[in-house]
Amino acid sequence: MNCSRGATRVNILQSVQGLESGTAIFNMTLILHKRNRTASQLLAAILFLLGFAYAQPVSKAITTQIDGRNAILLGTDWYPEQWPEARWEEDLRLMEAAHIKVVRIAEFAWSRMEPSENHFDFEWLERAINLAAKHGIVSVLGTPTAAPPAWLTFKYPDTLRIDEHGRRATHGIRAHGSATSPRYRESCRRIADQMVLRFGHNRNVAGWQIDNEYGYARMSFDDVTKNSFQSWLKAKYKSLDSLNEHWTTSYWSQTYDDWREIPIPGEEAEFHNPGLRLEWNRFVTDTWADYQQNQIDVIRQHADPRQFITGNFMGFFDGFDHYFISRPLTFASWDDYVGTGHLDPVGNGLTHDLVRGFKRENFWVIETQPGAVNWAGVNNFLNKGEVRVMAWQAIGHGADEVGYWQWRSALNGQEQYHGTLVGPDGTPVPLYEEVKTIGSEFAKAESALRGTTPVSEVALLNSYDSRWAIEFQRHSTKYDPVALLKTYCRFLSPLSQSIDVISPDAPLQDYKLVVAPSLNVIPDNLAQHLSEYVRNGGHLVLGPRSGMKDEFNALLPQRQPGFMADALGGRVEQYYALEKDFPVSGAWGEGQVTIWAEQLKTLVPDAEVLLQYGPSNGWLDGQPAALTHKFGKGRITYIGVVLDERLMATAAKWMVDMSGVKPVFGRVPDGVEVCRRVGGGKEVFIVINHTQERQPVRLPRPMTLVLEDGEVSAVDIPAYGVSVLADNNAK
Ligand code: GLA
Repeated sequence: MNCSRGATRVNILQSVQGLESGTAIFNMTLILHKRNRTASQLLAAILFLLGFAYAQPVSKAITTQIDGRNAILLGTDWYPEQWPEARWEEDLRLMEAAHIKVVRIAEFAWSRMEPSENHFDFEWLERAINLAAKHGIVSVLGTPTAAPPAWLTFKYPDTLRIDEHGRRATHGIRAHGSATSPRYRESCRRIADQMVLRFGHNRNVAGWQIDNEYGYARMSFDDVTKNSFQSWLKAKYKSLDSLNEHWTTSYWSQTYDDWREIPIPGEEAEFHNPGLRLEWNRFVTDTWADYQQNQIDVIRQHADPRQFITGNFMGFFDGFDHYFISRPLTFASWDDYVGTGHLDPVGNGLTHDLVRGFKRENFWVIETQPGAVNWAGVNNFLNKGEVRVMAWQAIGHGADEVGYWQWRSALNGQEQYHGTLVGPDGTPVPLYEEVKTIGSEFAKAESALRGTTPVSEVALLNSYDSRWAIEFQRHSTKYDPVALLKTYCRFLSPLSQSIDVISPDAPLQDYKLVVAPSLNVIPDNLAQHLSEYVRNGGHLVLGPRSGMKDEFNALLPQRQPGFMADALGGRVEQYYALEKDFPVSGAWGEGQVTIWAEQLKTLVPDAEVLLQYGPSNGWLDGQPAALTHKFGKGRITYIGVVLDERLMATAAKWMVDMSGVKPVFGRVPDGVEVCRRVGGGKEVFIVINHTQERQPVRLPRPMTLVLEDGEVSAVDIPAYGVSVLADNNAK
């Protein structure tokens, strides 16, 4: 096993000293991503010897399930600081009646907790936590660092972010702090420290959320950040010669003779060197990881070990590498919002799978929409029943908590129109009853789901490096790497009924099929990891644009798929962005390819051509569009095109059949989703009818109804209905 994303901590100050910069450099320890193969192999070997090899047994403790609490929890975001204390009891009574078991609090309450510099007031928060506990509700404390108080930003303007155009953020918004400002870091650490000293051993505090959405990854475009980036590069590349070579800076006279000459990609980001841009995104990742660690350190120092630490992520948001940021967290959480329209079961399910893959374990949906949001184009309300479907879909994909943002809207403030569970008058809105139903169902399903997690035979690979590299240079505006991932998911998930979305350097040995739709960046060590998977019997499917770049975002001096070409027994001769569809035919039938087409070539006699182009642009006519090759005990397939829906369906069927993947439940009607959680000798199916019509579903064998009573061989699921079924024959 090798890991392309091994991390080594370097003291930034040591490297900064060599810069002779007159500007103050903030005192922080940055995590430097080192893609040094020897180092990463050594690290993997050490981890293996220590028994921390990547492969984790499925039966490990589920960290998202809190001891002494229900395994799956209903929650809400409660802001007691916005209301008179006399009101709290009624809020909590209504929450308890709705089976709400957890509140996230305080994540924007800095000005109430530190009303003036170094003066703290936690009395009110302690009373809120204690009162919630009387109603059987446990608290998760958010550190309030996404919302610095006015006294802080007024007295110390350097704590405010500067945007790409040189404008300083104004107070009154949020996420306006500067992640690289030493003073801001210090203030964040101080408030987190004071909070944990007060609540780190409070038995009614289950855990912590650091910050909120990490400033949407926005950086401050100031000298502190620039100097820090330059130091980071120096620590990574060691010499300018190395940097100049890897970035090919002889192009357009970019050659750097002094680290201080290297720019940060601000206003004109899209015109910068792809090598610089990829490193900038990694630097942004490291900056936010370090920003997070600054608070984790003090919390870990003083908190009871039973208190968890999580972060609130935004699904497919690509501002930083979520695998890296998630490492020090107990588990990952995300906020699941539909915005305009209605639940897209495939896209939303895929996003849950993505978040589950951040740490390859269950997660929390720490925020979700109570009917409607306030920030979309049209903030329509979800249909009656849809909120319940969404909640169960989250559980089906591995969530152990679903929390509604927010309980009640503040009377003033930017989010007055957002959905809530009680109205401005403090009485329940119509959705409250549906959420109450969800709460009572979660309570019923508690013992069936305790200790369970989704398990998959199929993995989709998601790589931030590859996604960034393609996004920098899409070559066709229509080429959207996330959309392609979703297309593969749409066709593969009904056939396997469970998919993991993981980082390419994760352990792969437990998967029968691994699909990487656009794995653009495949350095040598990643190629070895993938080849080893195939050699040992796995089936790897690479999609278009795979194996083109090295870790510096430089073109490989081989044709695609670069280091994987030998295993494939073939290569890409030329790629073409398409302005119109072209015909193909072969093992998967006949159809059209769209957006992207690669002209492939076999290099060995036993590489098979799966698809060939028909008459198209002359270059592609009669040429291979997809290849497959047995390699070691396994198989590698390369699909150099974006397929139309019919071809995609047959290709997906071919992939699962070829790999021995079987649907875990058996056929279900279109629009019905099957999720499966296993563990502790239990196997539970969550069958969701996403359609607005009744759907009959035959079970593969008799099962027990978890939400109702009795054993059944078939279920008739109403529109927006859910059936939770325990398989009595689970091994
Ligand atoms: C985000 C934030 C919340 C709230 C919601 C509204 O997820 O974390 O504070 O603003 O959006 O949808």
